[in-house]
Amino acid sequence: MTQPAIIGGKPLFPDGVPFVRPPAPPLERVMKRLEPSYNRGMLTNGPLVRELEDAATERLGTRHAVAVSSCTAGLMLVLRALEPAGPVLVAGFTFSATAHAVAWCGRRPLFAECDPRSFQLDVADSADRMRRTGDVGAILATHLFGAPCRVEDIEALAAEVGVPAAFDAAHAFGARRGDRPVGAFGVAEVFSMSPTKPVVAGEGGIVATNDDAVAESVRIGRDYGNPGDYDTLFVGLNARMSEMHAAVALESLADLAETAAARSAIAQRYTERLAGVPGIAVQHIDPGDVSSWKDFTIQVDEEALGVGRDALAAALRAEGVDTRCYFDPPVHLQQSHATGERLPVTEAVAARVVSLPIYPALPLRTVDLIAEAVARVHEHAEAVGATQAARP
Ligand SMILES: Cc1ncc(COP(=O)(O)O)c(C=O)c1O
Repeated sequence: MTQPAIIGGKPLFPDGVPFVRPPAPPLERVMKRLEPSYNRGMLTNGPLVRELEDAATERLGTRHAVAVSSCTAGLMLVLRALEPAGPVLVAGFTFSATAHAVAWCGRRPLFAECDPRSFQLDVADSADRMRRTGDVGAILATHLFGAPCRVEDIEALAAEVGVPAAFDAAHAFGARRGDRPVGAFGVAEVFSMSPTKPVVAGEGGIVATNDDAVAESVRIGRDYGNPGDYDTLFVGLNARMSEMHAAVALESLADLAETAAARSAIAQRYTERLAGVPGIAVQHIDPGDVSSWKDFTIQVDEEALGVGRDALAAALRAEGVDTRCYFDPPVHLQQSHATGERLPVTEAVAARVVSLPIYPALPLRTVDLIAEAVARVHEHAEAVGATQAARP
């Protein structure tokens, strides 16, 4: 086995392996799709947006799919529709936008712990915090890295307390909880179509719901709160999706079966190749569930691997492999939301996980070499660790 690049070996990827390469559909197809709307001067919220909403409804099996300009805006509009009476329970281990949406709606995020293996919202801890806090108005749980969270337990908890549950499904287009597609759980689920996601629009989101009132409120809310006569019903946003974004999204959606299969093959390959490496645990996904594999995330056990997560990421960087340490710092410690509250499990997870490159254009041979690079770090753990200790 040759030496890792971080201790003087030859880098495996002199040209670099990017963390993400968005599966943008071919430009000719997008142009062709866009042309009719464009030539009619319909640039936003037109027939392509309707077509995307119909396609998403069919795919997700919900009564409504409302296209919006981003998942963040969709989350804000869903929360506006739900009017939670008190704080909204969210995971500390999620992207900042989950909690931002709560704060923009004038509510306080109540942060709960995550499960140490799946990284998903810890439902027992959530129940505990909700009982202690008393006046929680809603639950907004995230499907982490594209794998479904414990939706039934979360729905049951919400029903027990008598509050709505909604899901931040930013990562999870195409995911399934058992035989049910993510999209129809809770009162609403909100997807993102930004460039790192399984279906891309450039920027965009989909609010999926079976609730007619929520769908109507989001439709009105994405248009400033205007029901059609410019006598605005409430303080809405401009969160419309443009026809250009819808054209990209429609073509991206048409490719989903293929791109999802490619992501899944990559995830399976990483899982196989990393299985024998001490100290590396792949995100736990409940049996029978299907992840969108928006991210492939591993957790590092420093003692067993021989070095910690940061040293592993540095070693991969030296090989030319770009990685991401999502979500570190976790949201409850970020300056925008910090209150001094600590979540020890979440903080430990945030310090131990790293996401590896995964996208349809990533060759399986590259996956093998990345896994090999991880194994080499273990083989040379002492020397690799020393490079970190030597850092200023
Ligand atoms: C969990 C989660 N929620 C929400 C968002 C925000 O999505 P958007 O960029 O479409 O607003 C993201 C973005 O990556 C995310 O990861």
